[in-house]
Amino acid sequence: MSVLSIVELSAASSPNPATELDELCCPGTLASTGEIVPLTRAGDMLLSPSHSYPLIGGIPDFRLTTDRDGTSYDAILPEWTPATMDPATLHSISRAMELDASAIEGKTVLVAGVGAGTELNILLGMSPKRIYAIDFSSFVLQLAKQDEYRGIKFFIGDLCNLPFRSNMFDYVVSGGIIHHTRSPELAHRNIWRVTKSGGSINYSHIYLASLHNRRVLIDRERFEFHRMAAGRAKRLLSIYAYLYKFLLDSRILKLLNRKRWRARFLLEGNQAVGESVAYHREGFFDYYLCRYRHVLNEDDIFDWFEKLGGTVKRVPKGFLGQKPEPALAPAPTQTV
Ligand SMILES: C[S@@+](CC[C@H](N)C(=O)[O-])C[C@H]1O[C@@H](n2cnc3c(N)ncnc32)[C@H](O)[C@@H]1O
Repeated sequence: MSVLSIVELSAASSPNPATELDELCCPGTLASTGEIVPLTRAGDMLLSPSHSYPLIGGIPDFRLTTDRDGTSYDAILPEWTPATMDPATLHSISRAMELDASAIEGKTVLVAGVGAGTELNILLGMSPKRIYAIDFSSFVLQLAKQDEYRGIKFFIGDLCNLPFRSNMFDYVVSGGIIHHTRSPELAHRNIWRVTKSGGSINYSHIYLASLHNRRVLIDRERFEFHRMAAGRAKRLLSIYAYLYKFLLDSRILKLLNRKRWRARFLLEGNQAVGESVAYHREGFFDYYLCRYRHVLNEDDIFDWFEKLGGTVKRVPKGFLGQKPEPALAPAPTQTV
């Protein structure tokens, strides 16, 4: 097995464990093609036949050039601080996701959409063999500098174009991500490809097709904050957050029959009455600034797993799926 560490050349000071080239493949390799195209290295770049990807402090950035100017999450994630979340909150997230420590201990885990690291803080307590973490935001570079995440292999990249070899992970955790990708089903097919036979896929905090989520989608299309310069969109959304809070607190929102009188200026928060303006503001950023925001039908999620031969069950905060074990080869027939 050739083991070419791609970290050694780039940043000797990087706290990240060396990533090996033979664990990676060209982004975009899909199960349906059956083709695994290897990457090569030239200095601080990784090369596919059609693209080049930089190594930043030892972390490969697998985004396409056109996607590298950043996402709204670059500005949102620093405000989410899971490291300071109290253990009770982390425990309740873990329970709602039905994260089972016995399925994770000693296993290779992928955090598909690591964000600000909420799931890392939970998983590290479950003693996996190795954690790989990928996200579309450059905030990955900040996570990789943190001492508590030493030992985790970090990547910047797109779930719709995963850069990993097939059948690498025993357990994939993806919390609050696939509905933010340009194609949730394509993201699922990528995740499926890199999951080992018999492995598990845990999707949580997905925007399911509720009336609220549909309204958010309509408002997004109407106001197009996600197409504005981030600074302008954030200022406008802050004003909306104050207005929304006022309407909640004064109970005017309750009085409005929103089906018939829904004001054209009204954006939807998450209706958590009594929360602070800051809470609504942050919710608004997450709802309206991100580039993609789909709502998903439960039936479609079941369908994704079933048409690939897997099983899936509903858990309190999402879905827990299983990729089937490989079929046993039929025993050779003996001829006398
Ligand atoms: C709601 S956050 C959830 C993050 C994390 N799981 C958590 O709970 O803190 C959504 C994350 O999805 C990431 N994301 C959006 N589209 C993505 C894509 N196509 N590939 C990888 N990550 C993506 C964003 O950068 C952001 O970090």
